[in-house]
Amino acid sequence: MGQLLILHGPNLNLLGLREPGVYGRLTLAEINQKLEQAAAASNLSLRIYQSNHEGALIDHIHEARTWANGILINPGAYTHTSYALRDAIVAVGLPTVEVHLSNIHAREPFRHESKLAAACLGQISGFGWYSYILGLHALRQHLEA
Ligand code: DQA
Repeated sequence: MGQLLILHGPNLNLLGLREPGVYGRLTLAEINQKLEQAAAASNLSLRIYQSNHEGALIDHIHEARTWANGILINPGAYTHTSYALRDAIVAVGLPTVEVHLSNIHAREPFRHESKLAAACLGQISGFGWYSYILGLHALRQHLEA
């Protein structure tokens, strides 16, 4: 039994409407439902948050120190800019997996770099909503090992 923090960053509340050709047609609620199903099958419990605000995401990471075994995060565009989110991940020391719906390496050059990835166990990118499921399994495997 493990407890995971699932964090969705800016603009991901608009999934379903937002550039469906890039991010898919599932809403955030539908992705969260798939995550809950996968978690239940793996005996994991989840707390899921979305925020458009960098500081709120950092606060959730800090709080996770007191209850979570790991973090799954799609930092949205903060991926490419936020040293503060990276420092928060390092500060709490929880195993963290970075996920992206789109393949950030196949998109505009500014998306190719992640400020967070080096502080994470790894990065999963390009599998649409299934990136989250792959990330969940990667974290589970890490926690079991
Ligand atoms: C994203 C990729 C980011 O570059 C972008 O800013 C997002 C979503 C993804 O899931 O593909 O908001 O993290």
